[in-house]
Amino acid sequence: MKFYIDTANIDQIREAASIGILDGVTTNPTLLSREAGKGTYTEILKEICSIVKGPVSAEVVSLNCEGMVSEAKELAKIAENIVIKIPMCSEGLKAVKILENENIRCNVTLIFTPIQALLAAKAGASFCSPFVGRLDDINSYGMDVVRDIVTIFNNYEIPTEVIVASIRNPLHVLEAALAGADIATIPYKVIQQLIKHPLTDIGIERFLKDWEKVQK
Ligand code: G3P
Repeated sequence: MKFYIDTANIDQIREAASIGILDGVTTNPTLLSREAGKGTYTEILKEICSIVKGPVSAEVVSLNCEGMVSEAKELAKIAENIVIKIPMCSEGLKAVKILENENIRCNVTLIFTPIQALLAAKAGASFCSPFVGRLDDINSYGMDVVRDIVTIFNNYEIPTEVIVASIRNPLHVLEAALAGADIATIPYKVIQQLIKHPLTDIGIERFLKDWEKVQK
């Protein structure tokens, strides 16, 4: 499973990239708004694309096909690895068809049902993003949707990659991997949680203490 980071924060992206486990980045208007004052939308995306060579999702905000396509074409000029994030809706599906035909890769976002994912795939999307945390928030099993999408895509050998998004904790990452998702897009805090384990910390401390003993 590939690991993306779900942030527009340059420091977090640099740090995750330096660990050597980062395959891509996803941003959205909310994440970019948290970086207000640090540059324009375009400047921030350009910098992200210079740090990470894998796909970097940038979202459009228009709600009609024409607007989405024109925004997408501007965003695609930023760097070769930009992927256009398009919200799940009829106009979005139309835009995906047009953009993918022009070799501009799309990530259909705000997916909450397996059939929405199938529709995104039928429109030709390179990626689709089911939001697990937001489904869990309303007493639905977000990961059930991911499992169903993976089954459907396997049934029909659909090449659209499944990005598990709205990840809130390490168990979401584990379950995404067990479900066979292609990608998990993970907030920085959760990446840190994945690395750490209290028994690892205790183990390191014990090794160091024992090492000191033999130095005397
Ligand atoms: O990638 C989508 C993600 O940013 C949404 O996460 O926590 O706002 O549901 P959240």
